[in-house]
Amino acid sequence: MSPKISETFRRLELIEHGAMVVNDQRIEWVGAESEISSQYPDRRFDITVAAKGGVVTPGLVDPHTHPIFAATREHEFYLRNAGKSYMEIAAAGGGIRNSVRKTRAASFDQLCQKAVRFLDQMLKSGTTTIEAKSGYGLSTKAELKSLEVIHWLNDNHPIDLIPTFMGAHEFPDEYRDNREGYVRLLIDEMIPEVAHSKLAVFCDIFTEAGVFDLDQSRRIMTAAKGHGLKLRFHAEELKSIGGAELAAEMGAISADHLVFITDTGIAKMAEAGTIAILLPATTFFLGHKEYAPARKMIDQGVAVALATDFNPGSSCTTSLPAVMTVAAIYLKMTAEEILNAVTFNSACSLGLQKDIGSLQPGKLADFVIWDVENYEQIPYLFAQNPVRSVFKRGRQVV
Ligand code: NIG
Ligand code: FE
Repeated sequence: MSPKISETFRRLELIEHGAMVVNDQRIEWVGAESEISSQYPDRRFDITVAAKGGVVTPGLVDPHTHPIFAATREHEFYLRNAGKSYMEIAAAGGGIRNSVRKTRAASFDQLCQKAVRFLDQMLKSGTTTIEAKSGYGLSTKAELKSLEVIHWLNDNHPIDLIPTFMGAHEFPDEYRDNREGYVRLLIDEMIPEVAHSKLAVFCDIFTEAGVFDLDQSRRIMTAAKGHGLKLRFHAEELKSIGGAELAAEMGAISADHLVFITDTGIAKMAEAGTIAILLPATTFFLGHKEYAPARKMIDQGVAVALATDFNPGSSCTTSLPAVMTVAAIYLKMTAEEILNAVTFNSACSLGLQKDIGSLQPGKLADFVIWDVENYEQIPYLFAQNPVRSVFKRGRQVV
């Protein structure tokens, strides 16, 4: 991935009074409305949609979500607000392991139903493609079940889901005192089976103090890479341990969170072209004070994408427009950078920039019509969800 992507994607290409022609799920032509009659002199269109007074953007791409879980965890939200930390709750058996127990017990259909409700919300907020992680199963059987749920959702919901295996999300209860045993299970059984079944494109890991350390992360991700999975990392979310450097060194397509990234980490990511996926809604929802140093990363030439991190623990939002507002306030990103970060840069972080992420001929006709007077109003209209309609592959879905 070329670092130049950050250059192209800090710039926003705008067409005032624009028009777009869609043919068979894809964009055929984009330009000024005044040119359409000369472009298509004797063509009558089957359907005409007027975006009158609104703004049209590419469908939003959410490149980091954890949507396969059996139950929400609102009680932990209030425990945190009363003073307990995310890691204290996790160490006491809550957090991810709480979700794992319930997700293992849930049926395939229950997991699908639960996720559909949230995917519907995403679609209404303008999201047309997401990256979706497993990671609340943490056994071969339950991880494969979660990945199969992601495939079912991809086939049965308008949103496109790109599957990521995240068996290395936590150490499950039965391996708390045998961490090496779980690392071996990941390397010897889970990763080979996931790769063989072709159920995932990516492999992700929670590289963090108290979870997977650098040595374990390197071994697990080397195995994943060897089996043809592309790499993403959760890195430097709560502490800095060198996960960003490891991600850059291993050729990961993205490193995510990065609240506590060091200058060396930034330099290594810029050099390797690793995309930074920032998740400011997580920092906000955890009530933390320190946000990822987005300005520094952008200024050093790191391509920045934004995601919801939708999950029942640290970020229970499905709304990229809400993330956009938080990014403006706390990451000090400009409206142009933010729009780029939820469309083209996030598409790049999934390797899908040929098909989605911008409105260009040949790409899928995934687009949103917003009830706003200019694109700067999208992050500004705080929690108002100014989506008027959403189109997926040329078909109106909202
Ligand atoms: O990205 N940090 C690890 N994973 C999720 C949280 C998952 C959970 O709390 O259920 C995250 O924040
Ligand atoms: Fe996450």
